[in-house]
Amino acid sequence: MTLLIKEILKLKPKNQLITAKGWVKNFRANKFISLNDGSTVQNIQCVIDFENFDESIIKKITSGTSLSIKGKLVFSLGSGQEVEILVENIKIYGESNAEKYPIQPKKHSFEFLRENAHLRIRTSTFGAIMRIRSKLSYAVHKFFQEENFQYVNTPIITSNDAEGAGEMFRVTTLNAKSPPLIKNNVDFTKDFFSKKTHLTVSGQLEAESYALGLGKVYTFGPTFRAENSNTTRHLSEFWMIEPEMAFFDLDDNIKLAEKFVKYILSFVIENCIDDLSFLEERLHNEEKNKPKNERNELKLINKLKFVIDNEFERISYSNAFEILKKCSKNKKKKFKFLVNDWGMDFQSEHERYLVEKHFNKPVVIFNYPSKSKAFYMRLNDDKKTVAAMDVLFPGIGEIIGGSQREERLKVLKNRMDQFGVSSKDLLWYTELRKFGTVPHSGFGLGFERIVLFATGMNNIRDVIPFPRTPNNALF
Ligand code: 4AD
Ligand code: MG
Repeated sequence: MTLLIKEILKLKPKNQLITAKGWVKNFRANKFISLNDGSTVQNIQCVIDFENFDESIIKKITSGTSLSIKGKLVFSLGSGQEVEILVENIKIYGESNAEKYPIQPKKHSFEFLRENAHLRIRTSTFGAIMRIRSKLSYAVHKFFQEENFQYVNTPIITSNDAEGAGEMFRVTTLNAKSPPLIKNNVDFTKDFFSKKTHLTVSGQLEAESYALGLGKVYTFGPTFRAENSNTTRHLSEFWMIEPEMAFFDLDDNIKLAEKFVKYILSFVIENCIDDLSFLEERLHNEEKNKPKNERNELKLINKLKFVIDNEFERISYSNAFEILKKCSKNKKKKFKFLVNDWGMDFQSEHERYLVEKHFNKPVVIFNYPSKSKAFYMRLNDDKKTVAAMDVLFPGIGEIIGGSQREERLKVLKNRMDQFGVSSKDLLWYTELRKFGTVPHSGFGLGFERIVLFATGMNNIRDVIPFPRTPNNALF
């Protein structure tokens, strides 16, 4: 019977015959094979009696070789593992040239592994990250299903720009060399969909339509942004979770966001403790190489518990602005960007100061200046701010962005005009306010940002299998 290594490691050894299949991590002294199959961060040790073994097979065993091993499961005599397999039979699936195989049994830099993203999943670190990612994604569905949300799939190809930021990838079948023209401009009526289309930046607008019928819905799918942000927190293709709830106001929305992230992080602690402990150890060593003021003081698992156990701090934009302005003036903290104009966008240095120094816990900022946020956010009575909220996390900054939506047709149309959003193109969206409108709210969680936080990694390129970033679409 073939078992996963994860299952084998839980068995009571009593000389039973078992089969394990996987990839060789390491082969020592012509005797000890460390085998891994991706089911757990732990390897199983397989011991060969090389004097009585076919030499031609032993020669083929190197790091990266794929094979099937049959043998007896016994208590291990050596230290470092409880059980091991006494090998009786080996079937080699694929050899791996020891000199050329990029994944050597040693620590590689994350830069090097990014260039070998097709093989990096064979390392313990990427195995751990991707298992945590998978569990987080399961937890997302589990949470919303338990809370009576319906999962909806919104389109990937779309003609609207939900965020109004113009950061979209065009989708076209027109010939780039000689597109059809009309008055010197490209004639998109001749394109596949008879209009300009793009990859979606957010499924929110369509999710709103479904919330106003199904009540509580969520999306979980890929989104695309053509923003030229080459940072450790931005991807051109990322996965986003967008819940949208009828009859929720901003306060309900914030409460749900807090409950949601705490739930999925707790789920990871309960279900991925081996992987978390491995990463904690691996990254702790990495931290030591950083300058002191950039080091994470908390170790990974404590950092997750810290978020789960603490109530998020809530503060309005205006109050946050006052704190930052005072602190800019006091020269208590040298900001690169001074905080002096109400209405300005906070930079990541400001957000990090609030979260990591001033409050020392996750912070929810709400009621942002209306001009800095998207057209669909609900205008507050002060007419200066909108019912928006951002959840900020230590080390990451913005992890969630959301708002109560403008449900009043007239106010929405005004805001669309101000933002230059065509109400002709979004006629369907405005009709949601014409026929049975209700107060409603929602938010978006960048999936890779929470994976980044949960794994303690530093670069978002290392928490998605094949990252897409400016100038890079390899693999
Ligand atoms: O704040 P954003 O742009 O909000 C929206 O898209 C809304 N439609 C969400 C909603 O209300 N339904 O993006 C939401 C989140 C951010 O907080 C961030 O976590 C993530 O998506 N995000 C990115 N993650 C990786 N790479 C990028 N380029 C990202 N841009 C946003
Ligand atoms: Mg945002």
